[in-house]
Amino acid sequence: AGTLWEAAQRTGRYFGTAVAANKLSDSTYVGILNREFNSVTAENEMKIDALEPQQGQFNYGNADRIVNHAIQQGMDIRGHTLAWHSQQPQWMQNMSGSALRQAMLNHVTQVATHYRGRIHSWDVVNEAFADGSSGARRDSNLQRTGNDWIEAAFRAARAADPGAKLCYNDYNTDDWSHAKTQAVYRMVQDFKSRGVPIDCVGFQAHFNSASPVPSNYHTTLQNFADLGVDVQITELDIEGSGSSQADNYRGVTQACLAVARCTGITVWGIRDSDSWRASGTPLLFDNSGGKKAAYHAVLEVLNGG
Ligand code: G3I
Repeated sequence: AGTLWEAAQRTGRYFGTAVAANKLSDSTYVGILNREFNSVTAENEMKIDALEPQQGQFNYGNADRIVNHAIQQGMDIRGHTLAWHSQQPQWMQNMSGSALRQAMLNHVTQVATHYRGRIHSWDVVNEAFADGSSGARRDSNLQRTGNDWIEAAFRAARAADPGAKLCYNDYNTDDWSHAKTQAVYRMVQDFKSRGVPIDCVGFQAHFNSASPVPSNYHTTLQNFADLGVDVQITELDIEGSGSSQADNYRGVTQACLAVARCTGITVWGIRDSDSWRASGTPLLFDNSGGKKAAYHAVLEVLNGG
């Protein structure tokens, strides 16, 4: 197949990208989006601060622009993200305790209801574990409402949109030996054993020289899948250039293809110039929209090469 999504579809997988609503008028950007991808994630437009800027007042304009584009093009939509310690509107940052818990659950319910039936997978909770060797939850206003805030969010999401796959999403969870990876694994294991509704784990996969693609990546993905959840690579980007970057992209793609329940890959932007990274060239297309060596490597692996 000659495009990323068609090649991914050979094995029943999707290939997605993060999309910014204000770039949907850029014809180069939209041309690549429509040609190469069959899944989208709103890069910022479905975050809490974007959707509920004032408590109880929801603003779906920019998010709906992305959703409508995706639906017109027959693309899947990954929802990102219902509950997160970051990108909270000021009113939520100022809250605590049971009032915050209620406000968070109301946000989950309202947003998942608004998009009911249109979301392939929701990142219900994002980045709830601490970095480093503790394996602890990340301290945040949400965590301080009680350790059960994550499962409460998943239950509210399931009730509001029973058809969406519900994911836990995080970064630095790629290396199987990492304490954070182990901690997320134990949470998913616990949720599965107690019937907390969780369907998938998202691996953001932001790689650079400080956090390279681990050699045991396949092991990590397989071990999570063996808990009975899908795994998805949700925000892939890899610093570097040329053949070494291409080799890293090849390795990540191979790791996903080697795991039956790795159902899709999303890159975190289209051209290098679209990346959240202020400098660097971490994506599959150059600033002019040309295909990089990394693109050709991913396509070849998806095609079985
Ligand atoms: O839109 C405003 C603009 O009006 C304002 O003038 C400008 C000044 O700061 O800010 C603009 O908003 C920025 C927004 O991106 C859109 O460009 C925010 O400041 C900036 O913080 C925001 O960064 C996003 C970041 O998440 C916020 O947490 C990045 O685009 C986005 O790529 C990044 O994505 C995250 C995932 O959600 C979670 N995983 C990590 C990933 C990378 O950091």
